[in-house]
Amino acid sequence: MFIEGMEEEEILIVDDTPANLEVLFDCLDDAGFEVVVAKDGESALQKVEKEQPDLILLDVMMPGIDGFETCRRLKANPDSKDIPVIFMTALSDAADKIAGLSLGAVDYITKPFQQEEVLARVKVHLQLRKEIKQRTAAEAELAKLNQKLEKWVSERTAQLKQTIEQLQDAQLQQLVQKEKMSSIGQLVATVAHEINNPLSFISGNLTHAELYIKDLIAHLQLYQDKFPTPGAEIADHAEDIDLEFLMEDLCQLISSMKKGTDRIVQISVSLRNFSRADTKNKVAADIHEGIDTTLMILKHRLKARKNIPEIEIVKEYGELPLVECYPGQLNQVFMNILANAIDVFDEDSIGRDGTKRKANHNIITICTEVNCEHVTIKIKDNGPGMSSEVIQQIFDYLFTTKPAGKGTGLGLSISRQIVEEKHGGKLTVISAPGQGAEFAIALPLNC
Ligand SMILES: Nc1ncnc2c1ncn2[C@@H]1O[C@H](COP(=O)(O)OP(=O)(O)OP(=O)(O)O)[C@@H](O)[C@H]1O
Ligand SMILES: [Mg+2]
Repeated sequence: MFIEGMEEEEILIVDDTPANLEVLFDCLDDAGFEVVVAKDGESALQKVEKEQPDLILLDVMMPGIDGFETCRRLKANPDSKDIPVIFMTALSDAADKIAGLSLGAVDYITKPFQQEEVLARVKVHLQLRKEIKQRTAAEAELAKLNQKLEKWVSERTAQLKQTIEQLQDAQLQQLVQKEKMSSIGQLVATVAHEINNPLSFISGNLTHAELYIKDLIAHLQLYQDKFPTPGAEIADHAEDIDLEFLMEDLCQLISSMKKGTDRIVQISVSLRNFSRADTKNKVAADIHEGIDTTLMILKHRLKARKNIPEIEIVKEYGELPLVECYPGQLNQVFMNILANAIDVFDEDSIGRDGTKRKANHNIITICTEVNCEHVTIKIKDNGPGMSSEVIQQIFDYLFTTKPAGKGTGLGLSISRQIVEEKHGGKLTVISAPGQGAEFAIALPLNC
């Protein structure tokens, strides 16, 4: 008889009686099992050592080591302890049956054998063993998966924790930077406003002072014409104070004072424009005015300084319409981009150790143009440019190549946020080592 699915299963019969061996062999062989025989305990143990069967039928009474001892040794060996053992005992040996079961045997069959009974018990225990094996394998797999899952969960938790911490840190820094910018803006606006009153007082009075002085001088000249010989005391005094020069210089003095106050008025207007309190609503603004104001504020950094040559500004302004925007924030963008270009020129002119490196003709070109969809502002420098690795990171939060304390790495990331998130525009850069850098701000016209 051949039983499907059982052909691979191997059964070891251990018995010293050839007649028993023969009966069992035939019965199991007919049923489709692979059958191996051993005539005593020793050789059975050796066979198991070499190849482990799926089930052992074990006689109790044998020469040499008996069935109990064989079973004990099988159960003591981790490799064979899980192989089911069925004892074969005589019908009357109840004590043997109990002893065998307590040693770890799974069952017993009694002699003389009933073939159907032997087959039925063998099949049950093979099936049980198969199920136990499957369950053990499934449990091992589950334990492995569980371990993997726990590892993954703990890794993800650590990653998430780190991300949250980084995010909180970044948000905090951004908040501090925004707060700082807005308080600086407010301070500048307040100072510019406060300067305004005394300033208009001075410039207004200067106009009157100029008129009065002109009148006084005219009056004095009239005296000189009508009384050409005023006497020694007056002539001496006129000589002492160098009256001729005084009258000539006083007018020039007044006019340069007027120029000075005009300049202060201009600066005050620029400061107020630059820090416009326009965070609530967009307004139609003149982009060129914003750029010029920013340049005015940066003027002191554009002039030639010790070891640093002058930076020339070339303006190629197109005809731009007014653009709906937050002008104060856009000025901040112009400021960040222009300040970066000035920084690279400074760094390029003076090495970090303070020695003079080179004196290039440093140029920043600002070009503006409009098409039906966008206004584009391009700010280009002829500085050292950037490598592709640096370009990939310049808009990243806190990325800087500047020494500690010099750059925070926030300028461009905030600028991109202002251009792209606040204005729906695009801030891009084109650069290569030795080729300078060109930043382009594209602002949609219907934003
Ligand atoms: N015109 C440029 N030429 C060459 N490199 C530039 C230029 N503009 C920016 N970079 C590079 O981009 C980096 C990031 O610029 P970003 O303005 O974001 O930060 P930062 O200038 O380093 O610091 P800060 O926050 O003070 O502005 C700079 O450190 C610099 O390496
Ligand atoms: Mg910067």
